[in-house]
Amino acid sequence: MGLVKERNEMEGVTKRRVCRVCESKKMHRFLVLGPMPLPNYFLKKEQFSSEVSYPLDVYFCENCHMVQLLDIVSPKIMFEEYYYTTGSSAPMTVHFNELAEDTIKKLNLKKNALIVDIGSNDGTLLKSFLQKGFKNILGVEPAKNIAKLANDDGVRTENEFFNNENALRLKEKYGSADLILGTNVFAHVDDLKSFVIGVKEFLSEKGTFVIEVPYLLHLIKNLEFDTIYHEHLSYFSIQSLDYLFKKYGMSIVDVENVKSHGGSIRVFVNNTDVKSEAVERMIDEENKMELNSFDTYLKFAEEVQNLKETLRKLLKSLKDKGMHITGYGASAKGSILLNYCKIGTETLDYISDTTPFKQGRYNPGMHIPIVPEEEFHKSPPDYAIILAWNYADAIMKKEENFIKNGGKFIMPVPKPRIV
Ligand code: TYD
Ligand code: ZN
Repeated sequence: MGLVKERNEMEGVTKRRVCRVCESKKMHRFLVLGPMPLPNYFLKKEQFSSEVSYPLDVYFCENCHMVQLLDIVSPKIMFEEYYYTTGSSAPMTVHFNELAEDTIKKLNLKKNALIVDIGSNDGTLLKSFLQKGFKNILGVEPAKNIAKLANDDGVRTENEFFNNENALRLKEKYGSADLILGTNVFAHVDDLKSFVIGVKEFLSEKGTFVIEVPYLLHLIKNLEFDTIYHEHLSYFSIQSLDYLFKKYGMSIVDVENVKSHGGSIRVFVNNTDVKSEAVERMIDEENKMELNSFDTYLKFAEEVQNLKETLRKLLKSLKDKGMHITGYGASAKGSILLNYCKIGTETLDYISDTTPFKQGRYNPGMHIPIVPEEEFHKSPPDYAIILAWNYADAIMKKEENFIKNGGKFIMPVPKPRIV
């Protein structure tokens, strides 16, 4: 339980002075979202008084154009109590099965290929490879309880953080990797240098590194500011990834768009030195969108501020009419949105969520009670704000009855609106 601390302590945060990719000191802050509690830390009532908030400031690097956080909350604090398992999310399981299928085809993988998944969680992705007859697999997972789950389930998993040192040891033990995967891990890494050098060393000569990361272009275009939080240290463009991999003698050979987390990219990297048309095209697109200009980010910050005012006004006008409003889906994004916009129990009766661990607890910061979804069906509100907007379509389909009976949903981003 490293998360609940005395109020005036600020231990557990280190401040980086230089860019995570290019080590330039020319870092410019454009957005201040904090102080902000950890958005995944759902509290019991007795923990309210000792809740800690951390800085959540976003910076732009003038040299390599990388967008990033510089205040690093200790991974020990963030990941010690890790409850999220991939296998419990049906959409992620489907997504990973497709990822396995696509990479096997695209890379023409041989059945005896060594396939390594970094941040392998409960082994859901590697299970897809096992099921397709690829038996030479290895997971690397830092959370002890989750690594154990995977091993118990027949997915060979090493319980450790991935870095250069560990990579060399793994290579010694298992040989070179033909495929290394990193989905939803790359943006969490502070020491990218050690991570990338580790991957480079571990990969076989013709091996490929495949990552999936949320795409900065979507974040900016769709004003997805609530996907910015302490766990996500880097917000990648193709431009900044290209800079990073080139620095260590690797190249991006292909990029695909994927749907998860409000728009992500799947990036294929290897040890060759090639130019890819897809990469050039995407960098052109990014330049057209002015992702390399600081003004773009100042404008983004202004729009975030406007969103806050619009959403608060909308909710207030509904409250003034005596409407009941609730939150739908206690996502981490929801925590950021509600804390930044200062929306609490004066506005929302509760937040409904299907996750047993969250039910009966309170959301970070604003302390809105989390209730099971049954509550939403038993006494439906007049309006429900969709806090898990990445699943908006699925939610509106599922809650057909609510809508038929006159209930309305509110979408908070990119522009607060009743749908
Ligand atoms: P998630 O997609 O993991 O987003 P984040 O990374 O921002 O936390 O969170 C979605 C949350 O919404 C999760 O707690 C489950 C919940 N949820 C529901 O309660 N009902 C639903 O129908 C859906 C789709 C999600
Ligand atoms: Zn930089």
